[in-house]
Amino acid sequence: MRRPENELLASAAAPDYFHPVNSEPSPPAPVRRRVAPPRGWRAEVDYVLITQTQLARRVRELSREIERDFTGRDLVIVSLLNGTVMFLADLIRHLSLPLRLDFMGVSSYGGGTTSRELVFTKELRLEVRGRDVLLVDDILDTGKTLQTVLAKLRELQPREIKTCVLLDKPSRRVENVRADYAGFEVPDLFVIGYGLDYAERYRNLPFVGVLKPEIYQH
Ligand code: XMP
Repeated sequence: MRRPENELLASAAAPDYFHPVNSEPSPPAPVRRRVAPPRGWRAEVDYVLITQTQLARRVRELSREIERDFTGRDLVIVSLLNGTVMFLADLIRHLSLPLRLDFMGVSSYGGGTTSRELVFTKELRLEVRGRDVLLVDDILDTGKTLQTVLAKLRELQPREIKTCVLLDKPSRRVENVRADYAGFEVPDLFVIGYGLDYAERYRNLPFVGVLKPEIYQH
């Protein structure tokens, strides 16, 4: 069947990342493969869940979708410390948009409790009232962190808030919160690397991996 001429013209002119206006962000990519870790990490890392190549490709896709959706907006990116460092750096270097960047610190270990009470360790400094906020986090797990931060941000009366996470672990969700942009859907495993830590280590791994059980048992 012949395609209408205007459709042919549109597909010829459009770059490969073209999305029609108002199209939905892509769903998170599933992860299935287990890859052997690089030699230097084999003593501690059981396997690589998301490779450097997969991360680079997917983060670039997210950047394109964000760029498409936020063009012409007064964008403030609010990134949660410390786990977003690598993801954020890769995400924003591909954004050809005017934007402002600020950070919030939030920790669930404050006071040494096990109840996962959230403590803000760094407050936002930029004005977000009337602006479009993109809240960036490393992983959406139970949803308690995003839920708490979203409530705090809403009090500052931004025009709109969207959420972007590298990883989504929906099987553990407790709160009714979702990410507008999510890189990968991961199974119920504790993951490290690419900014994510275990006891403040492993943030520098260029991949997302799973630790050997004996590392947790120390
Ligand atoms: P919630 O449960 O509040 O979790 O959605 C969000 C925060 O908890 C940390 N977190 C993890 N950190 N590997 C990590 O290194 C994980 O598998 C993991 N799951 C949750 C993380 O700080 C995240 O922002």
